[in-house]
Amino acid sequence: MKKRRGFYVQIILLVLGLSLGLLGIFLLIFLDAIHDGIIKTAMTFKVGSASYSAWSTNSPPLDMDVYLFNWTNSDQIREAGVKPKFERLGPYKFKECREKINITWNSNNTVSYRHRKLYHFDGPRSTRQLDDLITTVNAVSLTISHKIRDSGFLTKKAVSVSLSSLSSVAVTQTASKILFDGFDDGILGILNLASFGEIKDKFGLFYGTNGSEGKDGYYNMYYENDENFGVIASWNFKNTTDFYRGKCNAIRGSAGEFYPIRPTKDSIVIYSPELCRYAVLEYVEEVTVKGIRGYKYTGNYIFDNGKIRRFESELNLKSVAKNLYPKRYCLEMSQISMICNLSSQSYNDFSLEKCMP
Ligand SMILES: *[C@@H]1O[C@H](CO)[C@@H](O)[C@H](O)[C@H]1NC(C)=O
Ligand SMILES: *[C@@H]1O[C@H](CO)[C@@H](O)[C@H](O)[C@H]1NC(C)=O
Ligand SMILES: *[C@@H]1O[C@H](CO)[C@@H](O)[C@H](O)[C@H]1NC(C)=O
Ligand SMILES: *[C@@H]1O[C@H](CO)[C@@H](O)[C@H](O)[C@H]1NC(C)=O
Ligand SMILES: *[C@@H]1O[C@H](CO)[C@@H](O)[C@H](O)[C@H]1NC(C)=O
Ligand SMILES: *[C@@H]1O[C@H](CO)[C@@H](O)[C@H](O)[C@H]1NC(C)=O
Repeated sequence: MKKRRGFYVQIILLVLGLSLGLLGIFLLIFLDAIHDGIIKTAMTFKVGSASYSAWSTNSPPLDMDVYLFNWTNSDQIREAGVKPKFERLGPYKFKECREKINITWNSNNTVSYRHRKLYHFDGPRSTRQLDDLITTVNAVSLTISHKIRDSGFLTKKAVSVSLSSLSSVAVTQTASKILFDGFDDGILGILNLASFGEIKDKFGLFYGTNGSEGKDGYYNMYYENDENFGVIASWNFKNTTDFYRGKCNAIRGSAGEFYPIRPTKDSIVIYSPELCRYAVLEYVEEVTVKGIRGYKYTGNYIFDNGKIRRFESELNLKSVAKNLYPKRYCLEMSQISMICNLSSQSYNDFSLEKCMP
């Protein structure tokens, strides 16, 4: 009897072992597919799904850190050989709440929407407070001078006289006015009276953005669960912009919330209305956030950071990712060190809110 039971146990163990082995092989072969399947189900994008609610309002809000540069020797502007000195102050911390509004589902597998944005100052976590007095370059007089640079002698003279009596090169204002509340330089009112183009009553880097709706444009995003998921299809009804030249005007990359399901370790692309262009974020390292493994990407190369950019060949891009890079990273719009040419944008038409790098 004892021998017989041992035999059964052996059979059971054998069958169990074999099936576990088969399961193992099955998982080994299909793990990727199963993994993708689970993710796809979780990422299904429709009203009420988890990805939809995370997308429709960002919660928790985004942290936005702003640094201001205080011009500490502006009184020496007319002295020959004196370099301007700037002292970096910050961060002034804000919370940005983005809510999707005017959500429209289109028949071409895209969803259209706009943003309502609210900013809240995070006083307790900020190292600086909004009542700081900051001296900075006066963007108002600078813009006006730039705008009339090709005008006739008389216009230039007239503007020059009014600028020197009403405005100055430097301006001292509180941080809150420079950022969100805006300030009236005195000259703005006069220019408005003279109907000098489309000019607002106040100037502030983020003036008018708090509580605004659709200020960063009208988005159109692919939502089908494929390799285009979350990719921007068009922005303001077009698939190119006219801020730059050539390929740099392409509207491509993530609309901001979703990234490829299997991201590569070289780069991801994001479209940023604030930059008026897409930005390539480069892979840095693997990180673990609250127990979840992820890849970390950086935007450090978008602007001049004092370093010479690595070139395409050194980036060792996969052929797919290579298509995302126009020739040498859009040298037309930015030099090797990623200096951005603002001429074609904000300074020309006073519309920092339209395009605000
Ligand atoms: C900014 O610089 C000015 C001098 O130009 C100084 O009076 C002011 O206190 C500085 N502001 C802050 C917040 O440090
Ligand atoms: C967009 O949504 C806002 C409020 O949610 C509404 O007032 C406005 O009329 C909508 N605009 C369009 C074009 O549907
Ligand atoms: C933005 O507007 C909201 C609501 O009107 C207000 O509570 C908040 O303080 C404003 N934020 C800033 C930075 O002014
Ligand atoms: C999809 O359709 C919407 C509405 O007709 C349109 O605004 C959008 O540009 C279209 N997107 C693409 C990629 O064709
Ligand atoms: C961009 O739009 C134009 C017409 O509006 C169309 O011919 C072209 O194929 C589009 N390009 C892409 C990449 O979708
Ligand atoms: C910057 O852009 C403007 C307008 O597109 C152009 O006239 C100017 O030559 C550019 N400057 C440089 C240094 O490329």
